[in-house]
Amino acid sequence: MDLIHSFLNLIAPPFTFFSLCLFLPPYWAFKSFFSILNSVFSENVAGKVVLITGASSGIGEHLAYEYAKRGAFLALCGRRENSLREVADRAREFGSPDVIIMRADVSKLEDCSRIVDQTLHHFGRLDHLVNNAAMSTFNLFEEITDITNMRPIMETNFWGSVYTTRFALPHLRRSKGKIVEMSSADSWLPAPRRNIYCASKAALVILYETLRVEVGPDVDITIVTPGHIESEMTKGKFLMPEGKLEVDQDLRDVEISATPVVSVSECAKSIINGVLRGDRYVTVPSWFRMTYALKVLCPELVEWTLRFLYVTAPGIAATEAYSKKILDTTGVKKLLYPQSIQSPEVKTD
Ligand SMILES: NC(=O)c1ccc[n+]([C@@H]2O[C@H](COP(=O)([O-])OP(=O)(O)OC[C@H]3O[C@@H](n4cnc5c(N)ncnc54)[C@H](OP(=O)(O)O)[C@@H]3O)[C@@H](O)[C@H]2O)c1
Repeated sequence: MDLIHSFLNLIAPPFTFFSLCLFLPPYWAFKSFFSILNSVFSENVAGKVVLITGASSGIGEHLAYEYAKRGAFLALCGRRENSLREVADRAREFGSPDVIIMRADVSKLEDCSRIVDQTLHHFGRLDHLVNNAAMSTFNLFEEITDITNMRPIMETNFWGSVYTTRFALPHLRRSKGKIVEMSSADSWLPAPRRNIYCASKAALVILYETLRVEVGPDVDITIVTPGHIESEMTKGKFLMPEGKLEVDQDLRDVEISATPVVSVSECAKSIINGVLRGDRYVTVPSWFRMTYALKVLCPELVEWTLRFLYVTAPGIAATEAYSKKILDTTGVKKLLYPQSIQSPEVKTD
């Protein structure tokens, strides 16, 4: 057995390299041809039923408007009912023939079962499931005294998607539907202070890649990996070490630094276009995908840069991080951050 492994260790790298050299050119040509075909014949969602979790603000809210403009029926969920009601009213104005709202906490199994049942009961079918609800954090791992306070991140971001998908899948198979899975560029970037959030988003990627194999041609899956997008998250809404969701714009400045933030309406448009084309992955802004190449090709450099920018010595406040100093000294915040995220106000019910 050891001999077989020694032989494979020797032969596998050159064999893979030369096979790829032969295989990749026709493979990429084939893929490009299909991607052009998919752009021309993208899916029409008029009259289809779309369930969106976390539709009360940010990307989920604007995805609701994009689906509404294309004539889809909408089932919207979140914990803030009044905000959902306002989103539903606007979605109707944008052209959705019918919208229902459901107050639900996706970290609870019974709520996930209920939102799928209610959607089916009201509309009789389900075509797209958009797993978007999530929360973020921004603390060094060792600053979190009671680590169990971070459980809601995994319970919402990961288990919330898993539960809803499990209940929705039989209906999506029947309609030959789609799952839109909201992950993040943090699924590949080892972003300091977002530790558990990164883990939740990375877990989603491998789960939904596996599901893509399991549910194959019946249900399409688009995995979305945004960079920095205008929303309540980029206003600085974080799960704090004490276990409470709070807005802290100084911490947000540390997190985003001098990176340009994409407008949420532009982001939602890019996502929906990718989903309707049947894209397997959508990254917004698309240049953020380069950070994936950097992570794969020179991981040490990426780690060193992130540590330099974001990590402060024990006892030194996060606001002393170089990422914030760069933002403050260059004064580019007004240029790179949309107006809406420059105020700390978030929707309340
Ligand atoms: N903004 C970015 O830069 C960025 C980057 C990468 C990925 N993302 C991803 O994009 C998605 C949307 O986030 P966003 O940026 O639009 O932030 P956001 O404005 O804070 O929206 C988050 C949504 O999730 C809902 N939500 C949170 N916990 C929930 C729970 N337990 N049950 C049900 N709904 C819950 C919130 O509604 P309620 O509070 O009313 O429940 C809200 O509607 C998330 O998956 C996020 O990870 C965002």
